Amino acid sequence: MTNPIALQSQLSSAGKAAATASLNGASHQSQPQPRDGQTWSPSSWTTKPIKQDAIYDDRKQVEKSLAKLERLPPIVTPTEIVRLKNSLRDVALGKAFLLQGGDCAELFDYCEENAIESKVKLLLQMSLVLIWGANKPVVRIARMAGQYAKPRSSPTEIIDGKELPSFRGDILNGFDIDERKLEPSRLVDAYFHSASTLNFLRASLSSGLADLHRPLDWGLGHVQDPELQAKYSKTVDSITDSLSFMRTVGADIASKALETVDLYTSHEGLLLEYEQSLTRRLRDPANASKPSTSEDQKSWYDTSAHFVWIGDRTRQIDGAHIEFFRGISNPIGIKVGPTTSSSDLLTLLRTLNPSVEIGKITLITRYGSSKVRSLLPQHIRTVENSEYARSVVWQCDPMHGNTRSTSTGIKTRQFSDILSELQDCLAIHKEEGSYLGGVHLELTGDAVTECTGGSEGLGEDDLSLNYTSFCDPRLNEKQALELAFLIAGHLRERN
Ligand code: PEP
Ligand code: CO
Repeated sequence: MTNPIALQSQLSSAGKAAATASLNGASHQSQPQPRDGQTWSPSSWTTKPIKQDAIYDDRKQVEKSLAKLERLPPIVTPTEIVRLKNSLRDVALGKAFLLQGGDCAELFDYCEENAIESKVKLLLQMSLVLIWGANKPVVRIARMAGQYAKPRSSPTEIIDGKELPSFRGDILNGFDIDERKLEPSRLVDAYFHSASTLNFLRASLSSGLADLHRPLDWGLGHVQDPELQAKYSKTVDSITDSLSFMRTVGADIASKALETVDLYTSHEGLLLEYEQSLTRRLRDPANASKPSTSEDQKSWYDTSAHFVWIGDRTRQIDGAHIEFFRGISNPIGIKVGPTTSSSDLLTLLRTLNPSVEIGKITLITRYGSSKVRSLLPQHIRTVENSEYARSVVWQCDPMHGNTRSTSTGIKTRQFSDILSELQDCLAIHKEEGSYLGGVHLELTGDAVTECTGGSEGLGEDDLSLNYTSFCDPRLNEKQALELAFLIAGHLRERN
């Protein structure tokens, strides 16, 4: 496969009433309400203008792939989806914290034992640090088992003087320059790679991968600053002590709770034909024990993942993506950035969550460290002064507004910018009286060199050592864990 960093450097830049009602329990909308006189269906998005559309040469093959997807079983179930939604309700109400993370672009090649295990272990360790910091349960969502479609700022890019279609994620085309044509069979490949990844995730978790009776390797040897080293070690000691206390107490409940953890899956719901094919009308878990199977006990669930989000480039109010998302019962994310107007933000909430279900919507804010101060307060006031007060999850994505290029054209992010946006986000929510409920990170369990900074002191010259991302630069294992320690420190101060 072409080395991504080598290729990257050749790229041209051309290239409240209602709220009280739903406080009493998650309200299920068995059938989405008509909007502008139009009823919703899994395919009603096709009547709307679409951004980031996929146009294939061979439509017949696309139809064949979609028909296959429609027959295949759900990847996740309504019971799991609703369990996550209930947990996100706790986050919205300030009773839990959300950690979401994984690759920017997941490749089919990452569907492999070590890559999956190292990411899960990292997310687990980060979540322990955050539980310690927040003194609250942590909800874990992986950007995994389906994060295969990428929005691009330009449909083409120039490589070696030749204009080629951009890489749009493994579900659409390949990164290698001879695989850039959109390939319909990749739709079905995406399903099987998602299902295999999730199968291994589930099997590993139920077989003890997350068993906290086992000692964890915290690997803090790289932290050069003695003060930081002492601080992080103290946190680890405190976590280790708490775990050993629980083990010693030996109460059955505590022991069980230490054996496994919940981990949910997520991806950007970008390729709507794929999402539509996996969207099924299924029985709501709340009605599972009732004898009747009447339609009013069912809702539409996108069974491709527990949580799906709408990207910054596809959240046009009258566009196809919003039309699709307004009909599904999954908890959903909306990326909110410098180009989101406050009035659009409110319209998005009213369109996607008309019944003001608490925890249904996660607002994933991503402004950039230099803009967060001027933009976030207004967005918070707009939401918190509306009927949506205390109903959304506010999540900080400190990655996507902080991407930049080095003088040699390598895409990177600085650890200090990421931390700065996070710290500002925490401070602003405190000032505004709202609750920052979570973080959204691009990370990997491997020792990559894609973001600069952190305790290892990675500089721009180090980026080429092990740059393997095919899209945005990710935090490596050490940087991600360090960020968790730093966030935890701030959360402890907040509490
Ligand atoms: C992403 O999360 O990888 C992404 C493309 O983000 P955004 O839509 O916020 O740019
Ligand atoms: Co990204």
